[in-house]
This record gives sequence, structure tokens and C-alpha cells, in this order.
Amino acid sequence: MTSTPVHTPVLLFEVLDNLVLPPAARILDLTLGMGGHAEAILARCDPDSRYLGVDRDPEARQAAKQRLGSDARLNILASSYEDVWTNHTFEAWQALQAPDGLDAILMDLGVSTLQLKSPARGFSFRDEGPLDMRMDTENGPTALQWIAEQSDTTLADAIYQFGEERASRPIARAILKVFNEGRLHTTADLAEAVHSVLPMTAALKRQHRSDTATRTFQAIRIAVNGELVRLAESIERAIQQLRPGGRLAVISFHSLEDRIVKQTLRRLSGIYDGPGRESPTVLPKVVRLIHAGGITPSSAESQANPPSRSARLEFLPRFS
Ligand SMILES: C[S@@+](CC[C@H](N)C(=O)[O-])C[C@H]1O[C@@H](n2cnc3c(N)ncnc32)[C@H](O)[C@@H]1O
Repeated sequence: MTSTPVHTPVLLFEVLDNLVLPPAARILDLTLGMGGHAEAILARCDPDSRYLGVDRDPEARQAAKQRLGSDARLNILASSYEDVWTNHTFEAWQALQAPDGLDAILMDLGVSTLQLKSPARGFSFRDEGPLDMRMDTENGPTALQWIAEQSDTTLADAIYQFGEERASRPIARAILKVFNEGRLHTTADLAEAVHSVLPMTAALKRQHRSDTATRTFQAIRIAVNGELVRLAESIERAIQQLRPGGRLAVISFHSLEDRIVKQTLRRLSGIYDGPGRESPTVLPKVVRLIHAGGITPSSAESQANPPSRSARLEFLPRFS
């Protein structure tokens, strides 16, 4: 019998310490996952509070429902956070009852342990599984179908852009060679193709270095799930939903996400950050960062939960 992997919520105490949860709090969790943060936040909220949890992964929603389903303050919505602002969510928004705006919004970006540790989901090179990698298992192309649509150039560009992998070109060629020979089916096949270019040498293993396939897996996962495409827009939309004084907490896990959070923040802080700087537009100030540089996990948390090591938490309070 396989047991469901447990996802340990990252930077939990820091999230709890910095959110402002008044009586009858109104909270939107855009990445509910297995409900770890939700459970802890709800434990601090009174019976009149309302919590809307959004996730695009059916398995995650099911796990959160099992964990928290009996809590009448919680509603769970099947949606991606990019689409949560549109009309089909009307009923869920109504359940949230927040005409004056929200007190807290949480975005805990990226994949969960549930996804990473389930071989059948195809996210991990450690356990062999089908090349899927979709967060929303009911929609969109799998990683294998996505790779099938790529040329050497587009695949290399994605691996470079989303994995910051310098060997992106030979890796892309190696992956497509294996694919064209009909030998690319599983995460192990993909890892092997990457290792044919960047071998996991005994020296790298001895030094406990990350697997050389990590960056390529990250890149393909980001591309398949369109993870960064509308992140800036979603952060901006989230801030618009906060009441003055409300706070948006964003946990990012790699520099690409973090860069988008920072750029969006600078734009909304009144500093024009886009192209055409010669004629800067000063926007009205709507947010600021609470902790310059963000909050990173304590060494105790990094040791106890190694995936948390790269996490960074930014709080963006709205003040107008
Ligand atoms: C790091 S986990 C969140 C874990 C959660 N905070 C907890 O404590 O259990 C990220 C979750 O966000 C979901 N997710 C990622 N991108 C999403 C998107 N664009 N829309 C909705 N959910 C998304 C994933 O399916 C995953 O379950």
C-alpha cells in the first residue's frame, strides 16, 4: 500500500506572524495544496471568518477536503489562480462575503510534495513515472505531448529560460533524439537523456550536488504548466482585492518567480519598471514590502524540511 506523501507547509510561522487576521477575517488562498497553511491560519481565525482555497490540482483539492472538509468556514474552488477573478467563480466569491476587500491572500508558488513525490504525476527524476508533469491532470498537454511539439530551438530556449541551464542546446538535441527514436516515455528516460550530456559523476554525488537533471525538469514543468506566464497579472489582481491594510503573502521557490514578484512590486510601488524608461510613469503607490529582501527559512526549518531551503517569503501590504 502506498501512503499519501505529506506536504510540510513552508515558512508557516513567518506567514502566521505577518498576516493580520481580524475578527471575521476574509482570506483567499490561491494555492491551497493539501491545506497545510490553511489549517494553521483557520486555527487562528474566529467562527465568523471565511476562507476560500483555490487549487488547479484535483488530487490536492481532494487531500485538502479530507483534511479540512468539515470546517464550515472553508470553501474549495477548482480553478487556476489566473482564472479565479472571472465570473465562473461568482458563487465562491459570494461565499467569501468580502464586499470591503480581503484581509489576507496567500500564494505559495510551485509544486507540492504531493505532486513531486507521486511517481504517477511524472514530476520527479528520482522515481520513474510517465512524463506527465501537469498540475491540472484534467487539462492541457502532458510533458511528453509538449516535448513532441518542440523543435531543437524552442526546447533549448525553454530549458534555458525556465531552467537557467547553460547546456540547454545539447540537452534539447539529446531529448529530441531519444524522442524521435521512440525511446522517450518516462521521467527516467528524460533524466537519462539529460545525463548523456551532463553525467551525474561520482564526484558530484560525493559532494551531494543537485542532480544535473534538476534544471531541465524544472524548465519543462514550468513550460507545461505555464507557471510564469500570468504570475505578474495574478499578483496585481490579488492586490486589487485586498482591503487597505490587507496583506498578500507570496512564497517563491526560485529566482525566476522571485524576479517577477519584485518587478511587480516595484511597478506597484510607484516606480516604473518596464521598457521605455526614458519617459517614466510614476504610478500611484499601492503596496510596499514589509521586510526588505524577503523572509527566508530558519536553519532549523531548512534542516528539517530541505525543500524549503530555496523559499523566500514576501509580504505586500496594500495601503491605499
Ligand atoms: C507549494 S503547494 C501549496 C502548499 C500549501 N500551501 C500547503 O500548505 O499545503 C502549491 C500548490 O499550488 C497549486 N498551484 C500551482 N500553480 C497554480 C495555479 N496557477 N493555480 C492554482 N493552483 C496552482 C499546485 O497545484 C499546488 O497544489
